Order: sequence, then structure tokens, then C-alpha cells
Amino acid sequence: MNIPQHVAIILDGNGRWAKSKGMPRNYGHVRGAKNLEKICRDAYDIGIKYLTVYLFSTENWKRSREEVDGLMKLFRSYTKTCIKTARENNMKVRVLGDPTALADDLQESLKELVESSKNNTGLNFNLAINYGSRDEIVRAIRQLSQDCVDGAVKPEDITEDLFSAYLDTREIPDPDLLIRTSGELRLSNYLLWQLAYSEFYFTEVPWPAFNKEELLKAIEKYNGRERRYGGVKGE
Ligand code: IPE
Ligand code: IPE
Ligand code: MG
Repeated sequence: MNIPQHVAIILDGNGRWAKSKGMPRNYGHVRGAKNLEKICRDAYDIGIKYLTVYLFSTENWKRSREEVDGLMKLFRSYTKTCIKTARENNMKVRVLGDPTALADDLQESLKELVESSKNNTGLNFNLAINYGSRDEIVRAIRQLSQDCVDGAVKPEDITEDLFSAYLDTREIPDPDLLIRTSGELRLSNYLLWQLAYSEFYFTEVPWPAFNKEELLKAIEKYNGRERRYGGVKGE
């Protein structure tokens, strides 16, 4: 089987999954975070090199105060656990998104997570937290414009590759496969630039129930696709 080098996941459906069990939405998030630890190991076992997961979007601040607080609390404990699991499983963790809106202590833990795992050589695990693709592109343009004003970059030298190097995903190849759980058929502001030629896989399975078997199903489907990049079949 051809294993995608980079899999990106929109882990959706925590709230609905919890509701279906008569539990509060935040219980779904707790179980979703547990599942993430499992999927990292599964992804690595399967041979995936890069796994990029959407934890919190720039739009998710619109949720109730209670839910946002619960999520932030969860990210705190998840980050601490991840420092340990990254060490045990040799994962190199990167963070995508704008951290400045997060609480100082969470920013510090995330920095520690990235710093302490930077020399690891196993799974490249990328956490998109307070991430929005439009926000990422605007931040990139702001920095690029500044570099033009400062004379470090000439406008005529701007290429796709140079622009990509200003995005949060610099050093990370584009995803081969995007998975969204729980039935919604949209991108919700995720990796708009990077997903230009990725294959998409949507499943009804809610994130807390998504397991290795479901991941293998997605990869099997991916294997049945013919990637074209604008060319003609067979060439
Ligand atoms: C995904 O689950 C996790 C986050 C967006 C933080 P949801 O919370 O979106 O769950 P549903 O989609 O409402 O069921
Ligand atoms: C996208 O899921 C964001 C994350 C998974 C973190 P949402 O549940 O927030 O997206 P919408 O609101 O259904 O588009
Ligand atoms: Mg959702």
C-alpha cells in the first residue's frame, strides 16, 4: 500500500459524539484528546511521516465561554502530556497558528513542547491551535511586506516557494491526504494554501470513535485515487 507522507485531519464531532451519549460537549473534547494520543502512535506504526491536526480554529472563540475555558484547560493538560509522549515516542512537535491570543502559561508550555522535541526523528506532529488559514496568510503577507519595505526581498523575487516559507507550515511538505471526521463537507479555514492538490476523505465517524481501522480505510481509499496535478491520465 502507498502510504501518504503527510496526513492532515480536521478532528470534528466531539460535541455531537458526547451529546449522543447524554454527556456534556466538554466530555467529548476530553475523549477526543485521548484519541489523539492513540492516533499518533497508529500513524507512526502505519508509516505516516507528518500528521497535522486541527485543535482550535480562529473562529472557535465564538463558542460559549464555558466550552472555550474547558478547551483551554484541556490544551494545558494535553500539552504537558505531549511533552512526555513526544519524548517516549520520538515525535517532533510543531505548532501552527497564532499563539499570542493564548494564555501566557499555555504559550510557555507549547514553546517547551516544541523546543524539547525539536531533535526527535520520529513522527512530525503538528498542532494547529488558534489556527485559521486566512489569518496565517495575512500574517505571512504582513511579514513579507515588511521584508520588502526593509529591502530584504524584492517584489519580483516573490515566488510560490518563497511565499510558502512565510507560512506556519514552512519546512512541512503539503498534505497528501486530508481527513475530516463527523460528516461535514467543508474546510473550515484549514490549510487553504497547503491543500491545493491534496486528496480529500470525509467520514461520518465522529472524532472520538475514529481509530486505526478507520485511518487505514482512509488510506485504502487514497490508494484508489489517481493524483493528477493538472496532467492527463497515464502520463
Ligand atoms: C471538534 O469537535 C473539536 C473542536 C472544534 C474544538 P466539535 O466541538 O466541533 O464537535 P461538533 O462538531 O460540535 O460535534
Ligand atoms: C473546525 O471544526 C475546527 C476544528 C476542528 C478545530 P468546527 O466544528 O469548528 O467547524 P465548523 O464550525 O463546523 O465549520
Ligand atoms: Mg464541529
